Amino acid sequence: MPDTETFEPENIIVTGGCGFIGSNFVHHVVDNHPGVHVTVLDKLTYAGNPENIAGLPEDRVELVVGDVCDEGLLDELVPGHDAIVHFAAESHNDNSIADPEPFVRTNVVGTYRLLEACRRFDVRYHHVSTDEVYGDLALDDPARFTEETPYRPSSPYSSTKASSDMLVRAWHRTYGVRATISNCSNNYGPYQHVEKFIPRQVTNVLCGVRPKLYGDGRNVRDWIHTEDHSSAVWEILTRGRAGETYLVGADGERDNIDVLRAILSAMGRPEDDFDWVRDRPGHDRRYAIDPAKIRRELGWRPRHTDFAEGLAATIEWYRENEAWWRPAKEATEARYAAQGQ
Ligand code: NAD
Ligand code: DAU
Repeated sequence: MPDTETFEPENIIVTGGCGFIGSNFVHHVVDNHPGVHVTVLDKLTYAGNPENIAGLPEDRVELVVGDVCDEGLLDELVPGHDAIVHFAAESHNDNSIADPEPFVRTNVVGTYRLLEACRRFDVRYHHVSTDEVYGDLALDDPARFTEETPYRPSSPYSSTKASSDMLVRAWHRTYGVRATISNCSNNYGPYQHVEKFIPRQVTNVLCGVRPKLYGDGRNVRDWIHTEDHSSAVWEILTRGRAGETYLVGADGERDNIDVLRAILSAMGRPEDDFDWVRDRPGHDRRYAIDPAKIRRELGWRPRHTDFAEGLAATIEWYRENEAWWRPAKEATEARYAAQGQ
């Protein structure tokens, strides 16, 4: 492992800290890095829920409700912080197909505004991105994505994430902004919105509704527990080299039908108790991450390597937290029904 200089932030801004991965990251920082204060900047869209960070110590975590596109707000907020970790985004592919505009605004313009603020106030920046920027792989292709894979995004969502990655690279090279990028695979765990695959199927079963599988169910996703994503982002923020990209994954390739059958079996349902529904237009076939660089350079390793165990704990979390997901369920399913999904 090469020597890397350690950056020791004391006062960080976490954008999107009321969303799924951002809030898990805030919990991770509070639990593991006692000297660090977190300012969460979140617009509280349909995907943001302040409950996700409720109960954390007030002297460690402050919530500022606002938009990452708001230049005036950033001018007030950013000075005095030593880093921005940027999770905020419109994150759901199906929504981006129905209405791309908010994706362009938040994901592209929002990133631009944050980079400009980092430039003005000389603040370090970590950009949370996705493996979807690399497009997809064939099912029979032995290859996995690496940091050298050319960008080839397919959906409105992934093309806005790819655009934002390009801005980060340009702001580092041209203006010297101290920026790093991580491209991670599919996360699962607590606090994930019920629009996403695993929570949608788990809460469908809890509601007595049959789960819904797109296409032929053979699309492959590379699953990682969100706590492992959090530890990777922290390692990159504090020990990653500015200007570098790190791919984050946990060797978790599985096809959708296998994940769905695992959910049905863990919840005591027959494994064919689901509906086939209309496929997603442009549906990416397979994602797969080669995490060799982050392992080699930063010594990072995932801790949640038993998918069945992580899935069982996640199912249990949704069982125990119906009050958290119930308010979003009906509107989410109405949106899917209108799309034939
Ligand atoms: P999410 O949709 O659960 O949460 C997004 C959060 O951002 C919400 O709290 C929302 O209120 C906030 N937000 C949206 N627009 C905003 C704006 N204009 N200003 C301020 N806040 C705003 O998303 P997630 O699944 O937690 O994803 C977080 C990040 O991780 C995204 O950048 C996503 O691209 C990336 N990512 C997600 C996954 C995954 O599997 N979900 C995998 C890799 C990377
Ligand atoms: O790869 C990282 C990406 O993972 C992130 O960048 C995105 O923000 C995140 O949403 C996720 O994107 P996906 O499109 O892969 O996730 P989603 O949960 O929407 O779907 C996972 C797979 O399950 C995908 O192949 C579509 C399929 N699916 C999804 C839903 C909601 C179904 O078969 N049925 C469903 O009801």
